[in-house]
Amino acid sequence: MTEVSIILPTYNERENLPLIVEKLQKLMDGHSFEIVIVDDNSSDGTWQIGQELASHYANIQLIRRVNRKGLTSAILEGFLLGKGKYVAVTDADMQHDINLLPQMLEVIADYDMVVGSRYVHQTEVPGWDRARLWISRLGTQMACRLLQQNVTDPLSGFFMLHRDLIHQIAPKLHSDGFKILLEILFQCPNLRVKELPYEFGVRLHGSSKLDTKVMLDFLDLLISRSPLSKFGFQFIRYSIIGASGVAIHLLVLYLLYAQWQWPYALSLLIAIQIALASNYVWNNQWTFGEQRFMKSEWWTGLIRYNLACLLGSTYNLAIGWYLVHHGMNWVFASLLGIMVGISWNYMANQAFTWKK
Ligand code: GDD
Ligand code: MN
Repeated sequence: MTEVSIILPTYNERENLPLIVEKLQKLMDGHSFEIVIVDDNSSDGTWQIGQELASHYANIQLIRRVNRKGLTSAILEGFLLGKGKYVAVTDADMQHDINLLPQMLEVIADYDMVVGSRYVHQTEVPGWDRARLWISRLGTQMACRLLQQNVTDPLSGFFMLHRDLIHQIAPKLHSDGFKILLEILFQCPNLRVKELPYEFGVRLHGSSKLDTKVMLDFLDLLISRSPLSKFGFQFIRYSIIGASGVAIHLLVLYLLYAQWQWPYALSLLIAIQIALASNYVWNNQWTFGEQRFMKSEWWTGLIRYNLACLLGSTYNLAIGWYLVHHGMNWVFASLLGIMVGISWNYMANQAFTWKK
């Protein structure tokens, strides 16, 4: 019988994957274990490396997911495929200290879950500046308050649990949600959790896909706890960012038009562009974070976004300009313009900019 299935979610980890696999094979020698690689069709061909590894080792399986992205759903799929008595997950970049795995296996029988935790002792993370560590810790603490669970690292991506348990709760987990551990802790408030401390290391190769999202994760947590969650994460996130865009729009318009008395149409055009740019940044980071554009794609994304919003922006501009021209107060006029623009933009962005 397989004792443990170790899930490795990968996205562009071509250089790291063979290294972690070798290390796991050595480390877990003597245990009955399997490795499940879940790759989201990485553009660097990680899945091909996974295929080679799977044909070389009998205890390795690869799931290549196409047209889908997202860490939570990738891990969940790996868990559900695994046949071990226990299932575990760790990053493929070796930032987690996988040497803990045998120890996790020793204690898991007495608990529901064992979590590798970064913050038990660690006061510095290599490669992170103070701000990032601080943000990450604050988010973590707020999450703990809400959870009413005493877990120091509820955002950890390194943990092990009983396979039965994950099968029980799997249907309740949002696959487009935030961190999977947090979700599990949410769904099962009374889990017996054992934390094992470790030092979060530096990523071996490649770049991080998650970065400073902890605050946004925390917002997600609030959303999921509120009745709003019925409308779906994407729409709620989009609306919150939309609201911030409206505030930015009005602020810029206030400065340019009301304070500095620039022509209304020009002020409006600039306000729309600045609000759009801000919305793009945040939507890319958060609302559509799972499909987000990075590096050079970021600019093509911005262009797509502007194209998708073109009709909405034109309406926005035309309506605002027309109404002000006919004597309406500029705040109301721009709000009306925004309302028409927003509804169009959501549909257009979903269908065009960040299409799956
Ligand atoms: N299949 C799949 N799909 N894998 C993904 C995806 C995805 O959309 N996004 C990321 N991964 C894989 C990466 O290839 C890596 O193996 C692992 O998930 C974690 O991604 P990183 O990009 O290395 O995350 P990080 O180091 O910035 O984030 C760390 O902190 C998070 C909490 O703040 C990690 O420890 C995470 O596990 C942790 O949840
Ligand atoms: Mn990492």
